[in-house]
Order: sequence, then C-alpha cells, then structure tokens
Amino acid sequence: MKIAFVGKGGSGKTTLSSLFIRHLAATGAPVVAVDADINQHLGAALGLDDAVADGLPAMGARLPLIKDYLRGTNPRIASADSMIKTTPPGEGSRLLRVREDNPVYDACARPVELDGGTVRLMVTGPFTEADLGVACYHSKTGAVELCLNHLADGRDEYVVVDMTAGSDSFASGMFTRFDITFLVAEPTRKGVSVYRQYKEYARDYGVTLKVVGNKVQGQDDVDFLRAEVGDDLLVTVGHSDWVRAMEKGRPPRFELLEDGNHRALRALREAADATYELRDWERYTRQMVHFHLKNARSWGNERTGTDLAAQVDPDFVLGERVAATA
Ligand SMILES: Nc1ncnc2c1ncn2[C@@H]1O[C@H](COP(=O)(O)OP(=O)(O)OP(=O)(O)O)[C@@H](O)[C@H]1O
Ligand SMILES: [Mg+2]
Repeated sequence: MKIAFVGKGGSGKTTLSSLFIRHLAATGAPVVAVDADINQHLGAALGLDDAVADGLPAMGARLPLIKDYLRGTNPRIASADSMIKTTPPGEGSRLLRVREDNPVYDACARPVELDGGTVRLMVTGPFTEADLGVACYHSKTGAVELCLNHLADGRDEYVVVDMTAGSDSFASGMFTRFDITFLVAEPTRKGVSVYRQYKEYARDYGVTLKVVGNKVQGQDDVDFLRAEVGDDLLVTVGHSDWVRAMEKGRPPRFELLEDGNHRALRALREAADATYELRDWERYTRQMVHFHLKNARSWGNERTGTDLAAQVDPDFVLGERVAATA
C-alpha cells in the first residue's frame, strides 16, 4: 500500500508520518519509509541521531544506479540517461517489492529499529533552490516517483512517503501514485487552502484524499475543519505530549502514546487498507503513461534528445502478479 502525507509546511506531515510508521511497525507490518519532504526530518522523527540522519544515503544522488537497475533489459529504454522520472516500466523492467532485498534498497535504504519492528528508511536528500522548480531532469522526488512506478506492492505491506504538496508533485504526476493521500491540516484558513488546491488537482485522477486534522484543540477546531472539508475529514489529532517528549530526544515507548492518538492511527490504517479493494492497476499504469507523455513533450524529449514516447510499452500493465525479471 502506497501512502502519502502531504500538507502545508509545519502542519505536522513528518510527525504524523513517523507516528503512522511506528504504528505499522508495532504490528509487525513490513514498511518502507520515504522522506521526500523539503525539510528532511523523518529520520529524526523516527528517533535517529542527527549525525546518523545526516549521513543517510540520498536517493537523489543515486539516480543513475536506480535507473540502471529498474530499466533491467527493457529494450525500449536504451540507457539510464534516457530515463526520466516518469519513464514507465515495460517488459524487461525490474520491479521493486516491499519485502525483498535489491540493489536499490542496498544503496538507498537503511534499517531503523522501532518498538516492535525494523523499517527501511530512504531519503531523497536535502533540497536546494533548483529542486523547487517544476519538472526537472534531476528532480530529487523523481527518484521516489520512479520507485513508485516500478513497485509491485500488495496488501499488508506499506510504503509511507512524507512529502510536500508542491508544484513538482503536480507537474510530474507524483500526486497520483498513492492508494491514499493523507492531507495534514491545522484548523486554519491556510491549512485548508492547501487542501483545496490538492483537491482541485486530484479531482480528475481519482485520487483518494483524506484530511487529518492536526494540533486540534477543541470542538471549535473540529467544527471548523468539518465545515471546510466536509466528509474528507477522517480524524483529528490533538497536541501530543508524547511527540513533545520525542522532540526533546526522550521518546517514551510507543505504547505510551496517548490513547486518542493510537485510535487516530488505527483509523488511518483502516482507511488505507480499505483502498486495496479500489485498486485499478490498469488506470494506475495509464496515468503514469499520461504523465510521462506530458513530461516528454514539455521538457524530456528536448532534454534527452530522443522521442520518449517510444519508451511506452503499450501491452504492459503493472500489477502484483507481473513476473519480475532477474
Ligand atoms: N500533534 C502534535 N503534538 C505536538 N507537537 C506536534 C504535533 N504535530 C506537530 N507537532 C510539532 O510541530 C512541529 C512541526 O511538525 P512537523 O515537523 O511534523 O511538520 P511538517 O509539516 O513536516 O513541517 P515541514 O513542512 O517543516 O516539513 C514539530 O516541532 C512537531 O513536533
Ligand atoms: Mg516535514
């Protein structure tokens, strides 16, 4: 299951991603955690020391390796150089699984031990000014998008991405790559304005979007969010002393998180799990082709000097049962 946390800067994306990851790990579920946020804090929120978090390998710096592995023997992709962030898999491509060892995880993922289980953590690497533009060949989140487009994930295994609701994710199609998107919103006008923008982009793509209210202090806050986002409001989370203690570098055992917040995390999991029945791999593949052609036309063809439409394998449909080629 592919799950994104998005929202305004400072809304609590990283905090809620990390709590959700801890919740999944505590139940023994396999998890790949991905930090694709502008401010790279997921490692710290999962309890890593700053020195360790800063030393994590950056996916953005390992794009050639990722591309080379994923392209496999796909005859439509002549070289890693001609592969852009939206290049879809086809016959001969290698797919990623949540529970396996592969060269991409070897190069980019590090184990993080949490109460109850160990997760894999991958980070895009810190963003620079140039990363914040639109469609870009070297885009940091491009590494994540490539991995998502080559992921054959099943039920009860999770890829959780902490990311920014920025122009990059809308230009590339990244925002359509998830089974469910949790939009973290504080009960403020700014908080819900990001929701409206996301909803607008998401409308034509069948994106499942749910709002998680954060830093909610009382009924008035809940009423405000309900009035602004209606049934899209899934749960609300209040101020957490557990989170505050964790921020001080003294994380209590995860089971000591407030009951209400444990309940909220279970609700997130149930909402995510329920989307499994809505999966449509054909549509998922069609959408990646759509965004690939769009990016090819707008900058990719020119940038690579090739007609990137030729990378599309018209008979290929991504899915759990697609045989991975060695
Ligand atoms: N429910 C909560 N209880 C207590 N503190 C919280 C809660 N949610 C978020 N915070 C605090 O608010 C601050 C911002 O949260 P966080 O870093 O998760 O937001 P973000 O959306 O990831 O921000 P950025 O856009 O900077 O990446 C952090 O100091 C975090 O500890
Ligand atoms: Mg963050």
